[in-house]
Amino acid sequence: MDKFLIRGGRSLSGSVSIAAAKNATLPILAATLLTEEPCLIRNVPMVQDVRTMMKLLTVLGKKVEAQGNGLRLSDGRKLNPEAPYDIVKQMRASYYALGPLLARERRAKVSLPGGCAIGPRPIDLHIKGMKALGAEVTIEHGYITAQTRRLTGAEMVLEGSHGPSVGATANVMMAATLARGRTVIVGAACEPEVIDLANFLNRLGAGISGIGTPRLVIEGVEQLHGAEYEPIPDRIEAGTLALAGAITGSRIELTDCEPEHLTALLEKLRETGCECETGPRRLRVNGRPEIRPVDINTAPYPGFPTDCQAQFMALLCLARGRSVVTEHIFEGRYLHALELARMGARIDVDSNKAVIEGVKGFSGAQVMASDIRASASLVLAGLAAEGETEISRIYHLDRGYVRLEEKLAKLGADVRRVK
Ligand code: EPZ
Repeated sequence: MDKFLIRGGRSLSGSVSIAAAKNATLPILAATLLTEEPCLIRNVPMVQDVRTMMKLLTVLGKKVEAQGNGLRLSDGRKLNPEAPYDIVKQMRASYYALGPLLARERRAKVSLPGGCAIGPRPIDLHIKGMKALGAEVTIEHGYITAQTRRLTGAEMVLEGSHGPSVGATANVMMAATLARGRTVIVGAACEPEVIDLANFLNRLGAGISGIGTPRLVIEGVEQLHGAEYEPIPDRIEAGTLALAGAITGSRIELTDCEPEHLTALLEKLRETGCECETGPRRLRVNGRPEIRPVDINTAPYPGFPTDCQAQFMALLCLARGRSVVTEHIFEGRYLHALELARMGARIDVDSNKAVIEGVKGFSGAQVMASDIRASASLVLAGLAAEGETEISRIYHLDRGYVRLEEKLAKLGADVRRVK
């Protein structure tokens, strides 16, 4: 298992390019199951989760070939509508096979995803949506089995007690593209990654409107054709690297990014005193020596992204005063707090609230990654820490970031990956 060794305390400079979004790429790759015609997805971020999705699609019967900086996907043979446990256990987003297989093969058998470090991850809304489209769905022996003679469009509410669901919106929207008649999804997620998937589906010939609003309307079509597409930039990677600039008091630039997808985060970052200047596909961050405390409430888009909560908490550990972070999407998403405390942070977690008392600085320590974004939080703390930080189980980080250590080293950080 790889580790990161980081010698902190260095300021960063220069510019790095942002990769395409993992959380847009995963459903877009799964959506190619909806057509037998070839699709070319460009600029694919080769993170571990994407490699797992490629493996899954191959098992399901797609031919997946590297082409330039992207992937060409076409049907090698009739699809096999079963997503096996040994792949699904590696990545929750394997459930994105459910909607397309059900729509195209009228049958799908997908292993139930396990839980993960950030808490129970139910899929009741995915199942509610498939049933609304007329599928019979059963759960037994750890598998979801869904079948239908033909999906029929329906009106449904897909919002849960924690607000809209990105995954359920994406899954049901994909299934509805080939259903007979009109589907209306009320309480749909509006994340940029959901908008990107909808745009890709329309490029395949789907009839989706209301894109980016909580009310999606999908007019079912007989079949979909192939298309070329490039996913949007990864707003979470951009947010993570912007925070690297802020926490080290550095001036850095991010290119090939979409600052408009980060409005809530940039507003909070400015409140801490960090200067942020945006331009077309460009973001300049100028970190200041003094960090002011701010309160964070995560929320569905366009609110503050839960996937940047852990990273922002690392910054707030060094603020001059008290900050309160409240996690409204995944209540248990505080595993990083315990590891940050090992580096000298003062964080008191109670239910979904974390109260952070700013400290003078982090001290380097041996810490352990637990989920993608908690790992990123520890990397940021290591960049600012006095001395050396060793982060183990870095495979968590590799699930969501393409060679993050190389990007940080390009900005002047002293970070090395060791076996
Ligand atoms: C997606 O997960 C992202 N993953 C997550 O990013 C992200 O944190 C999350 O959306 C929220 O933005 C991918 O896109 C692959 P949800 P998803 O369904 O779709 C509850 C990362 O680090 N819920 O929007 O699984 C759920 O428990 C990952 O890249 C139900 O109750 O999230 C949560 O409280 C981590 N029933 C809330 O809804 C359901 O059927 C939002 O979850 C589904 C979800």
